[in-house]
Amino acid sequence: MMNTTSYSSDAFLIEGGATLKGRVRVSGAKNASLPIIFSTILTKETCVIEDVPDLLDVKNACELIHLLGAEGDRLNGRVLIDPSGIDRYETPESIVKKMRASVLSMGPLLARFGRARVALPGGCSIGARPIDQHLKFFVSAGAQVLVKDGYVNIEVERKKPAEFEFELVTVTGTENALLYLSGVEGRSILKNIALEPEVIDLVEVLRKMGASIEIEGRTAVVEGSEELKGFHHRVIPDRIEAGTLMVASLLTGGEVELENVLPEHLGAVIGKLEEAGARVERLGADRLRVVKVGELKPLEIITEEYPGFPTDMQAQFMVMLSVTEGRSMIYESIFENRFQHVYELKKMGANIEVRGRSAHIEGVRELTGAEVISTDLRASASLVLAGLVARGTTVIRDIHHLDRGYERLEKKLRELGASVERLPSLVS
Ligand code: EPZ
Repeated sequence: MMNTTSYSSDAFLIEGGATLKGRVRVSGAKNASLPIIFSTILTKETCVIEDVPDLLDVKNACELIHLLGAEGDRLNGRVLIDPSGIDRYETPESIVKKMRASVLSMGPLLARFGRARVALPGGCSIGARPIDQHLKFFVSAGAQVLVKDGYVNIEVERKKPAEFEFELVTVTGTENALLYLSGVEGRSILKNIALEPEVIDLVEVLRKMGASIEIEGRTAVVEGSEELKGFHHRVIPDRIEAGTLMVASLLTGGEVELENVLPEHLGAVIGKLEEAGARVERLGADRLRVVKVGELKPLEIITEEYPGFPTDMQAQFMVMLSVTEGRSMIYESIFENRFQHVYELKKMGANIEVRGRSAHIEGVRELTGAEVISTDLRASASLVLAGLVARGTTVIRDIHHLDRGYERLEKKLRELGASVERLPSLVS
């Protein structure tokens, strides 16, 4: 039997060793685009969203909005949605299984129709990812919530303002609640909310639609409205893509200049890069350059809710620390199983030991190219970084995970001098 390798999807082939140099534009933020696309359910007026990245998740979100009855189009980063025809309140399992962020349709559908029926999102490779906080919020808002046959059925007789405190900080839980309360007349209070820049970008859109939202600390006071308007909004830059490219520059000893980046969204990441010995030069309001000055230093990193160090940058830093002399430690406090990339990095020669939620890294002189498998979005980004800096050739299988969150990354990296190519799937 010939030993044929059949990829379940495209793969990347990377020749390590290039030094990245040049200028790259960071795309709009995926995790801001998704809730903003779902906010259009709250109005009957046309909405225009600019700088939306061309990603699988965005395509799925637009497909869902269309399935619910909206019209619109998506071209060159501009999404135009006419939601006046939305006449369904059900988000089918076929969509949710492709994109768990579809749960964000719950809040706006409940606000528009007084009911919503959304398939339960399963867990994923990084954790069980329950939505108990989302459902507790809706119950606190007076809704009936029934989970049956893999669907969440929510109904509210009469929409009324709510007061709710999250038991833990949840990004999409906060977004679901803000989306719902913006469509409810009266004064509501949300406590212990998430403050990620993507949440604040959604708040900006909800304010443009006519909701009044005041945030102080982790408390939001929302004055919603039944008559929310259409809006025109440019999505914030993707801070995680920016952070990923900054690590790529540092890892390869290059000098990459990033455009369309907001340093104020990357405080914890820039702080850790500078602690490792990098120089981050601000070249303008939304431009910066990362330069390696001397040998990198080992780090201790704990992932936390924003403004702490982002869990979505953990895998990328692990690659950098794998080839940084000395002992480093990363503690993953947000997700219970977000070290899948460790097993793949070890195939490339990394010296990492996982104990519970902490990964102990002993820097090695270099990584060696190997055939590795992507397991989730940010893990796949870390394997790309590892391939860039490894000696020899790296093949990364199941690269579709990367396509969910990075817009044409191989093109951006090639333009910076990397040797990256996409191998079409061997299985038609
Ligand atoms: C958002 O996921 C992001 N996704 C994730 O990005 C990101 O990693 C995560 O926030 C943390 O920053 C989108 O915005 C679409 P959470 P979300 O609810 O909202 C637990 C990427 O790489 N929890 O803040 O699902 C949960 O299990 C993705 O782009 C509950 O227990 O994350 C986790 O341990 C990956 N009950 C923690 O809270 C709940 O009801 C944080 O989850 C909700 C969450």
